[in-house]
Amino acid sequence: MKVITPPIKSQGIKTKLVPWIKEILPSKEGTWIEPFLGTGVVAFNMNYKKAILNDTNPHIILLYKEIQDGIITPQIVRSYLEKEGDKLKTAGDNGYDHFRYIRDRFNEKPNSLDFIFLSRAGFNGMMRFNKKGQWNIPFCKKPERFAQAYITKIVNQVTRVSHVIKLEWEFYNKQFSEIIPLAKKGDIIYCDPPYYGRYVDYYNGWTEEDEELLFNQLTKTEAKFILSTWHHNVYRENEMIGRFWNNFNIITKDHFYHSGGKIENRRSIVEALVCNFDLDEEIAKHNHGIKKKPKQLSIFDLEKSQYAQSSSTIYKDGKFGS
Ligand SMILES: C[S@@+](CC[C@H](N)C(=O)[O-])C[C@H]1O[C@@H](n2cnc3c(N)ncnc32)[C@H](O)[C@@H]1O
Repeated sequence: MKVITPPIKSQGIKTKLVPWIKEILPSKEGTWIEPFLGTGVVAFNMNYKKAILNDTNPHIILLYKEIQDGIITPQIVRSYLEKEGDKLKTAGDNGYDHFRYIRDRFNEKPNSLDFIFLSRAGFNGMMRFNKKGQWNIPFCKKPERFAQAYITKIVNQVTRVSHVIKLEWEFYNKQFSEIIPLAKKGDIIYCDPPYYGRYVDYYNGWTEEDEELLFNQLTKTEAKFILSTWHHNVYRENEMIGRFWNNFNIITKDHFYHSGGKIENRRSIVEALVCNFDLDEEIAKHNHGIKKKPKQLSIFDLEKSQYAQSSSTIYKDGKFGS
């Protein structure tokens, strides 16, 4: 499958997981609802006519709305990157002076073109905002960053995204908890929240209470949902799996994150997809097996599981047991 990649990058980008998510999609009908949009790579590859896309990060939402509205076009991006790329090449401190200039301009008055620049000239394709909500990733230290071939690559990404974003797609800049209740029977909600206990910045604070609220909302929804989370790495298990998500079906896959500041975050991690619908047995064969929990939860189960201690699940030799 050829994956459509977005013009912005982030350490949590799910490009590698797109075919896997697509493989388990229950249907192409209804509305695709993504409360934690991030770079948008998952939504862009799912081919839904209708979508509700949301993120608390206003820069992401503004960029995609402006592409949808034709305010940001491939041609505008090309001219901008050629102009700023030229300045980067000749700027003092090996280009860093111009990177700082764009960063300060963006932090003073955010705009989508500077956002693309920072995302593509920042260290290791990372996206992070400090406590004041300002861009907080240093320069990749490549003054020649915006060579013609790289500009063309970014421009092509904008072109493809402008083709897949449909007029019917709605963009929001709200809390996830305001978006999930919009889902109706027949819709599909894909959730990729910040991973609990792994990474925090201005737009990615994530507490146990957030996870519990998400669990409560996804338990009540009439729509189908798929949740991305991490299952375990070499150091530890994700305690939220035992606490909440074992109530649903889970499949897992090894994944290696190439970018990320902390060394722990750059190691291999076992990714999980949690869903509230039954999965094909065929899928189980190449996904470490399925941990099944097909029955509908009763209110009693729900209350129990919300306060239950973690870890009734044992993950061993690629199989689940209890
Ligand atoms: C792990 S990233 C999503 C990555 C995305 N799936 C991708 O492939 O690029 C989580 C996203 O959720 C957003 N976010 C964090 N807390 C949120 C909240 N309470 N409500 C909505 N969005 C939130 C962050 O700004 C971030 O973009």
